[in-house]
Amino acid sequence: MNRHDIALIGFGGVNRALAEIIHHRGDELAEELGFVLRVVAITDLRLGSLMQADGVDLGAVFAMTGADTFAGWRGGAAVPQNDYVIRNTTADIVVEATFTNPLDGEPGISHVRAALESGKSVATTNKGPVALAGAELDRLAAAHGVRFEYEGSVVSGTPILRFVSETLKGLRVNAVQGILNGTSNYVLGQMESGMTLDAAVAEAQALGYAEADPTADIEGSDVRLKVVILANEVLGGSITAEDVSCRGISGVSSADIIAAAANGSRWKLVGSASRDADGRITASVQPVALPSTHPLAAVSGPTNAVSFDTDLLGTVTVAGPGAGRVETAYALLSDIIAIDARQRATAEANQ
Ligand code: HSE
Repeated sequence: MNRHDIALIGFGGVNRALAEIIHHRGDELAEELGFVLRVVAITDLRLGSLMQADGVDLGAVFAMTGADTFAGWRGGAAVPQNDYVIRNTTADIVVEATFTNPLDGEPGISHVRAALESGKSVATTNKGPVALAGAELDRLAAAHGVRFEYEGSVVSGTPILRFVSETLKGLRVNAVQGILNGTSNYVLGQMESGMTLDAAVAEAQALGYAEADPTADIEGSDVRLKVVILANEVLGGSITAEDVSCRGISGVSSADIIAAAANGSRWKLVGSASRDADGRITASVQPVALPSTHPLAAVSGPTNAVSFDTDLLGTVTVAGPGAGRVETAYALLSDIIAIDARQRATAEANQ
């Protein structure tokens, strides 16, 4: 049976959840998917690094849960740097899920670059590398004959990028509009129930929806990067973050929310992009009071939803989890499955 060796870069909630899926469901997945997954390296700036070419003992790693370092782990060589692990691991797939700054995309961009340069495919949940350096990284992957996959960079585990590229194949998508940030959507919902913005943000942080610095969630810059990714992936654009006008929810007051509710409307932070007849893309992030009949109005809590305006089907809306550790880990699994499928197709074509 085929096997993929995996290096986990960053061992916070998401990659730990992926390791748990591999550990607990690996046999079942192998039977269903036709390949075995083996973790051969884990590296995390806080915990240290483990590398073992014949497979890291995940049971032993989980037994250390709560420990704040891998030091003393019995099987691995202590190596300090993520970059060293990425370049020297025997893995064929590098899974990048570090805490990456959404404003400059680092350290994610450097990690992805190092992996692709050393001939490894990459799956990442970080939006920074895709939105800020996607074209360069796509070129690098092509030059090295490997894959760069990032389903979890938008709407986390809900696979909307592949929904468009695979399920909506043959349709032309002319516009996309979505609730793309779970934290701000949760906060607006709590404000409808009378909570203050600050208290609701604190709750969203405690629930694990918010970024380390929730400013990106509240002021719209998280959604701005997701709009860049959607515009480029789904509408075939080549826009950058500067092309997206951006206003977050900090200007929406409790009074605004109460007034909207009296009209049957709900405030939502909406990210949108559309392509005109000349192929020009217009994109924005802004709070909008949506009427209750709008397909995005009923979307509550950390759920995300995206509506695609298509030529043959009209509007198609997909809703699903937009944050959460296990949900985001599923996006990585879906990327690994896509990498495997592409490698098999290439191998068959070369026979
Ligand atoms: N902080 C983000 C959100 C997580 O709330 O949607 C997923 O990008």
